[in-house]
Formats: sequence, structure tokens, C-alpha cells
Amino acid sequence: MIWQLLFEEWANFLLRWVHVIAGVAWIGSSFYFIHLDLSLRKRDGLPEGVQGDAWQVHGGGFYHMSKYMVAPKQMPKDLTWFYWEAYATFLTGFSLLVAHYYMNAEIYLVDKTVLDISGAVAVALSVGGLVLGYMIYEGLCRSPLGKNDAALGAVGFLFLVLAAWGFTKVFSGRGAFIELGALIGTAMVANVAHIIIPNQRKIVKALLAGQTPDPALGKAGKQRSVHNNYLTLPVIFLMVSNHYPLAFGSKYNWIIVSLILVIGVVIRHFYNEGHAGRPKPWWTWGVAALMIAIIVWLSTIGTAISSAAAPSAQPVKFAQVQDIVTARCSMCHAREPVWEGIISPPKGVVLDSPDSIRQHAKGIFLQAVATRSMPPGGNLTDLPDEDRQILAAWFAGGAPGI
Ligand code: HEC
Repeated sequence: MIWQLLFEEWANFLLRWVHVIAGVAWIGSSFYFIHLDLSLRKRDGLPEGVQGDAWQVHGGGFYHMSKYMVAPKQMPKDLTWFYWEAYATFLTGFSLLVAHYYMNAEIYLVDKTVLDISGAVAVALSVGGLVLGYMIYEGLCRSPLGKNDAALGAVGFLFLVLAAWGFTKVFSGRGAFIELGALIGTAMVANVAHIIIPNQRKIVKALLAGQTPDPALGKAGKQRSVHNNYLTLPVIFLMVSNHYPLAFGSKYNWIIVSLILVIGVVIRHFYNEGHAGRPKPWWTWGVAALMIAIIVWLSTIGTAISSAAAPSAQPVKFAQVQDIVTARCSMCHAREPVWEGIISPPKGVVLDSPDSIRQHAKGIFLQAVATRSMPPGGNLTDLPDEDRQILAAWFAGGAPGI
């Protein structure tokens, strides 16, 4: 038991650590190159084959960057490629998906009130969703639609909204968000692994052989790289969302994701225009602020958030609250949980004494009342609605102790 605990806890923690580092390195370098690419300027006197150059200052020195579109006369011996950041993000991310979500699918992926399926079926559907989702995206890019960037973008957006909606009809809210995040992340890494890097290699090979590379290769790579650029912000939202039940626990969670996709595109557009030296489209922040306001509003509809604003007429005794928490929560939220598959108190939340229950009042309200994210798995421990109302009234009254 102790070995299992050590292994699961540390594997999870270390994988997450490396996943975040790899993701930071990947997104960092990709944002950097987008900035560089857009800030290159043409001027007289550039060496042959140079499309533009840019000056930058960093780390105590000045960098003079130039971009060769055709390729330098002599291929440099030391050519740095950027792909391990993306591949490492995928490998650690997929391992985390397995270690966290697939190993305890009943708790994390399934919501019986959404769809009554077993953990194994949920895992199969999740893997299937990733494969199928990626194939559809790839199919869209390779179809005649792929020739028209704007049309492909619009259809791709609709496809992601549909996928978000579909996932919320199969998985728990948190499961649906991570599934969509994993699908987008997979497509982004696949863009690097299957299109951007192989095409770049073909271009280098053609150049070395003294041939003119097919311009379609560079164009396809560019198209995928633009997709990745616009999807970066939403994918990070989805990855960190599992700590925030107001987003994934909302009835309108899939609309929230759709609005986040829009924010991701407009905010990247703001920066892209700025990097290119064009007037900055400040309106994009207005659009983003409006979307956020709508998202916050959506997260309250159909939840018990408003019930917390009005203290209930019936004062609640703390003993009632403690009984509910002991009966419905503490099999998992204890120093030594007794629920199968839970080997340490989840997120360090221990609900085994009056003090600890009071300390976690906000979390209890958010998770078990406002969003019904707890008990997980679609109410695994059958917390009845009357009890949720008692918890709501307790929280509304300032969450008093004994
Ligand atoms: C079947 C086990 C189980 C039961 C029963 C359970 N929880 Fe949880 N709870 C979890 C798990 C697993 C997590 C961690 C989720 C994660 O990884 O983000 C969690 C997380 C939490 C958190 C912290 C969330 C965060 O992201 O910081 C709170 C608060 C919480 N639960 C409250 C409750 C309350 C209140 C009840 C009873 C009404 C309850 N839980 C019942 C398994 C359970």
C-alpha cells in the first residue's frame, strides 16, 4: 500500500513538473519565433536570400537576427531544430492523463448523472475521442477546405465547439475539459511531428540537393503553425481548469469553452498585429472582457451560487453539517481514506474535524453545492439535494462552527 502511494504520488507530481517545464519551453519558443517572424523588416543591403532582419536586446547583448527564405548558400553545420519541447509535452501529458484520469476513471472521467458508464468504457471513449477527433481535424486540413485559411478556421472552430458539447454529454465536466484539452494538445503536437518538422526536413533536403523545394511544403507548415498559435491560450485554460469547478461544473460549460476559444484567437491577434508593427487592435481586449463577463454569468446560471447570497430563514446546526460531511465526504477526505483508489486525502483536503470542515467551508460550498462537482463521479456517495441545501444555508450564514 505504502509503495503504491509513494509511486502514484511521486509519478504524478514529477510528471506534472516535467510537463509544465516542457510546455513552457515549447510555448515560449513558439511565441518567440512568431514574434521574430512578424518583426523581421526588409531593408536595402541585406545579404542574398535574406528576407528581413531584426535587432533584439537581451541578456546583456544585442542580437542581429536574419531570416533566410531560400536558405543560406552553405548549409550551416550546427542547425538547431525545435521539436523536443513539443514531443516532451505530449509524452508527459499523455502519461499524466493515464496516471491521473484513466487510473481513477470512475472518479475523474465519469459522471453517472451525465452518462452511466463504467470507468473502463469511459477510458475507451476518451482514447477513441482523441483518435477520432484528431483524424477529423487532419481530414479537414487536407480536404479542399484546407486551401482557404479563413474557411478552415471557421469550420475548425465549429468542430471544436461540437466536440466540447459532445464530450460534456459523455464525461464529467472536468473530464470533458481535460479531454478537449488533450485533443487540442495532441493535434498541436501532431502538427509539429507530422507536418511542420517533416516538411522542413524535405525543404532542407531539396536545398542540399540543389533543387527548389515545393512551396506547398512551407505553406502547409505555416498553416499548422498559425493553428497552434491560436489554440495555445485555450489549451492552457483547459489544462488548469480542473481546479475551478465554476467553469467545468457549469451546465453551460461547453459554451464557456467556445467563448474561451474566441478569446484565444482575438488576444493572439492583438499580439500578432503588434509584432508586425501594425496598429494594435485594442478592441480585442474589449471583446475578451465581454466574453469573460458572459462566462462568469454563465457559471452562475442553474447553480446554487445565488442561494448563498440570501441567508436562509432556517438556521442550520453545525452538527447537521458535520454529519453530512462525515457520511458523504470523509471516506475520501480523511487522513487515511477508505475509498478504493483514493490513497491519500485528495488535494490535501481532510474533512475529519469541526475545525477542518469550517476551514474548508468555501471549498465545500463551491464543490458540493454551487457546482455539484463533489462527491465526484456524478455523486458517488449519493449526497441528497436536501443535504446540499443544508450545506448552502450553513455557508450563507457565514459557515459557523459548533
Ligand atoms: C470518492 C471520493 C470523494 C468523495 C466521496 C468526495 N471527494 Fe472531494 N475530492 C475527491 C478528489 C479525487 C478530489 C481531487 C480532485 C482533483 O484532483 O482536482 C477532491 C477534491 C475536493 C476538494 C478540493 C478541490 C480543489 O481543486 O482544490 C474539495 C473542497 C472537496 N473535494 C470537497 C468534497 C466534499 C464537500 C465532499 C462531500 C460532499 C467530497 N469532496 C466528497 C474525492 C472525493
